[in-house]
Amino acid sequence: MKVLVLGSGGREHALAWKIAQGKGVEKVFIAPGNAGTATVGQNVDIGVNDFEKISDFALKEKISLVVVGPEDPLVNGIVDFLAEKGISAFGPSKKAAMIEGSKVFTRDLLAKYRIPSAEYSAFTDAESAKAYLRKKGAPIVVKADGLAAGKGVIVCETEVEAEQAIDRIIVAKEFGAAGAKVILEEKLVGEEASYLAFTDGKTVVPMASSQDHKRAFDNDAGPNTGGMGAYSPAPVVTKKIEKEVLGKIMFPAIEAMRKEGRPYKGVLYAGLMITEKGPRVLEFNCRFGDPETQVILPRMQSDLVHVLQACIGGTLAEHKVKWSKKACTCVVMASGGYPGSYEKGKEIFGLEKAAKLRDSVVFHAGTRLENGKVVSSGGRVLGVTALGKAIGESIANAYKAVALISFEKMHFRKDIGQKALLRMKKSSGKTRQG
Ligand code: AMP
Ligand code: GLY
Repeated sequence: MKVLVLGSGGREHALAWKIAQGKGVEKVFIAPGNAGTATVGQNVDIGVNDFEKISDFALKEKISLVVVGPEDPLVNGIVDFLAEKGISAFGPSKKAAMIEGSKVFTRDLLAKYRIPSAEYSAFTDAESAKAYLRKKGAPIVVKADGLAAGKGVIVCETEVEAEQAIDRIIVAKEFGAAGAKVILEEKLVGEEASYLAFTDGKTVVPMASSQDHKRAFDNDAGPNTGGMGAYSPAPVVTKKIEKEVLGKIMFPAIEAMRKEGRPYKGVLYAGLMITEKGPRVLEFNCRFGDPETQVILPRMQSDLVHVLQACIGGTLAEHKVKWSKKACTCVVMASGGYPGSYEKGKEIFGLEKAAKLRDSVVFHAGTRLENGKVVSSGGRVLGVTALGKAIGESIANAYKAVALISFEKMHFRKDIGQKALLRMKKSSGKTRQG
């Protein structure tokens, strides 16, 4: 069979890499892809929001499965569009992708079905939002309702900051239509974790837990980014927490979507805060995480294509998904300046040497081929990923590969995975003390 993956980041390279290993997969196409995806399949020069061109290509090439990477086309209804043309696509319908497309929709859903989250209120005008702010005080989190490429969430420590955030969203319309509504939300305290699951709308099959590193610099300093690295499993998600996440969050959310007439098929990604009172939902995403996918898929022992098809076909209950006991770490190598402005077109050295290391794989994000050379073409450039017997070994293996790679003005965090090591040290100390 032929598979088409939509997107061009590290997540899509990981997806295409894993799909290409599937039994019965004859060819993988990636639209538009990057220099890394070109090594596991064939790149096609079509944008992810060009639905007509995507469907024409899928029909012409007799594509059996389209796998959608990013949220934009899902929220814009690509799965419904392709289904109408008889093309099978993995991901939620437009109605179901609202779970990421509108934060107000999701907050209301969580409240209605009593799924643990943060206290919130939504507003369409600045005055009422500010009156609520005066009542609640700071710290408080101010969010734009719609898709804002991860930039629409402002965690405010003071009321002045929160007022400015409200003005940016509602008055200055910095996020355009995505900011037609603003949410004010209780600031939750704890450690964050990502929890992703496959679902066919009835059955929920969890993936391995993981943790992203959203801030640009070591020790969680600096601005929020798309993600500077990840590891899996996340020790903060203990067996007890996982049971709660599944029983109180994942199953009820899928059930709620079904009851609301929005049956959800695809990957449900819960961004969680593990608080002292238990796990709370920060957000839902309607797709695989980036860079979480880069650490989850290398640990997946089952055939990904079979699982994706079972989600579409409603037969997920018949599938067991197996995970390796090994741990996995991904260090993102970014362009200096990211998430602000940065230079592109820097030649990347050392990729061949890194490719020779056992247990590691370099997923490309912002790269392209220029005269036969791999050069940078985005903020996040590479996701250098490695397995290890335990998290410590996977971290060491990932940084061994990072040390072989270089490009001008590169930037990466040196502390990916340290939180996991610290937590494990603490809990083994507790065990020893009984
Ligand atoms: P979101 O896009 O909603 O996940 O928000 C992006 C980031 O903002 C999260 O990863 C958290 O670090 C932070 N955040 C969002 N909502 C809250 C909240 N209610 N309390 C504390 N931090 C939050
Ligand atoms: N790693 C954050 C995201 O995929 O949204």
